Amino acid sequence: MSAMADLPRMDPCDVVVFGGTGDLAMRKLLPALYLRACDGQITSDSRIIAVSRSGLDDAGFRDKVAAELQAVVPPSAFDQVSLDRFLTQLHHITADVAGEAPFGELAATLAHGEHRTRVFYLACASGLFGRISARLHDAGLVTERSRVVLEKPIGHDLASARRVNDEVGAVFREEQIYRIDHYLGKETVQNLLVLRFANALLEPQWNSAAIDHVQITVSETIGVGGRAGYYDSSGALRDMVQNHLLQLVCLVAMEPPTTLDREAVRDEKLKVLQALRPLSGSDVALCTTRGQYTPGAVDGIPVPGYRDELDGAQSTTETFTALRLDIANWRWSGTPFYLRTGKRMARQASEIVVQFRPVPHSIFPGTASGIAPNRLIMRLQPDEGVRLHVVTKEPGPGGVRLRQVPLNLSFAETFQSRLPDAYERLLLDVIRGNPTLFMRRDEVEAAWAWTEPVLAAWAASGEAPQPYPAGSGGPPAATALLQRDGRNWHEEDFQ
Ligand code: BG6
Repeated sequence: MSAMADLPRMDPCDVVVFGGTGDLAMRKLLPALYLRACDGQITSDSRIIAVSRSGLDDAGFRDKVAAELQAVVPPSAFDQVSLDRFLTQLHHITADVAGEAPFGELAATLAHGEHRTRVFYLACASGLFGRISARLHDAGLVTERSRVVLEKPIGHDLASARRVNDEVGAVFREEQIYRIDHYLGKETVQNLLVLRFANALLEPQWNSAAIDHVQITVSETIGVGGRAGYYDSSGALRDMVQNHLLQLVCLVAMEPPTTLDREAVRDEKLKVLQALRPLSGSDVALCTTRGQYTPGAVDGIPVPGYRDELDGAQSTTETFTALRLDIANWRWSGTPFYLRTGKRMARQASEIVVQFRPVPHSIFPGTASGIAPNRLIMRLQPDEGVRLHVVTKEPGPGGVRLRQVPLNLSFAETFQSRLPDAYERLLLDVIRGNPTLFMRRDEVEAAWAWTEPVLAAWAASGEAPQPYPAGSGGPPAATALLQRDGRNWHEEDFQ
């Protein structure tokens, strides 16, 4: 149906989604599978089997998915003929995944499909991962060609992450386990690898001699909405930093892997996580800050505060955090990484900003206060693209006036095509058996090992997060965190 119709087809497969009627399945997984089916990559004899407690039969589930796809798939990518075909590939099984009953109906549905690639996608709380794995094993459903996908967060601290990894590892081999971090499937994030390692220009500058600091911002306008139950036991550090933001740090900071091989890339990422300078005690107070949104307005529309969304509970969960990270190795010593993420911010914008050092001496009159240093900005969303800020001469007579202008590479304008959602890419990677963009057990545990002392210090401080009005740029302490180091957050896209 599309210009991408000559893309490689996957072998016929069975994809079983636990939490099959949940938010993630409906908003992300089924649309991604549908769009890959539209392009013929998921063959029409493949099956998608949702498991949930909803009590739906196949027809009811298909109706639900059809309505959802019509709402979330961009009209330019929507195709009714493909939808009709896709719906016939969908099945629903009612089961309580937290219960003990054998997976009899699932086993019957999967019977005779042992030769196929089988994907078990666990889109549910990580506390259930071990139990589901064991029950799949007991029902004889784990074949040689089976893979299991674990949604983040895996555990809520190092001990629980280890427990989950042990339990799942008792059933599946490590190479069958795909720990998903959807940020690694985003176009700009993959482009970061290409930018760094397919261009000779940047790599000689990619170190603390040339780079002053790096900023990573993931700023969302949404609140916690229907996810308040999960979110309140998680917070911004566990929900976003321990996984998405630290993975971005890894891709920016890692040494060039020798190949794009699954282990080579993950080995380099792991070394970055292991080199993070641990934060504990007084470092935590100095290098981190937390916020929680209060009532305000986003895009002019009044919105409730976080505690109101929790029905007035006195929660001290952070919905915003900003922090300074240092990487203790030769390449990065002396170049801090500043991270911030928050809900109900003024604008939705996610960026990696690499701020180079200024020129050592200016020969241009009128630049006593310095020349604006170069900045490389990788925009994850919205308007994915890369900009390099360079200083040029303002055209015209009357002396040399300098101006910083962005060299702009907007993906949408340059490539003129819809950028696939991260889940489209990652689901196909699972089906084709390529775990390069998934987190290995040691990475997840190294990320928790760094995160845990921060959580502990926050809990021990007894302090509540600083309030910030919904629709603002976060609490003032986040600004102060950089100002103390003589720096500012890059705000071009935020205000
Ligand atoms: C999820 C978090 O992993 O990522 C959410 O649990 C967050 O809280 C989401 O909203 C952000 O993803 P994206 O792709 O919209 O930036």
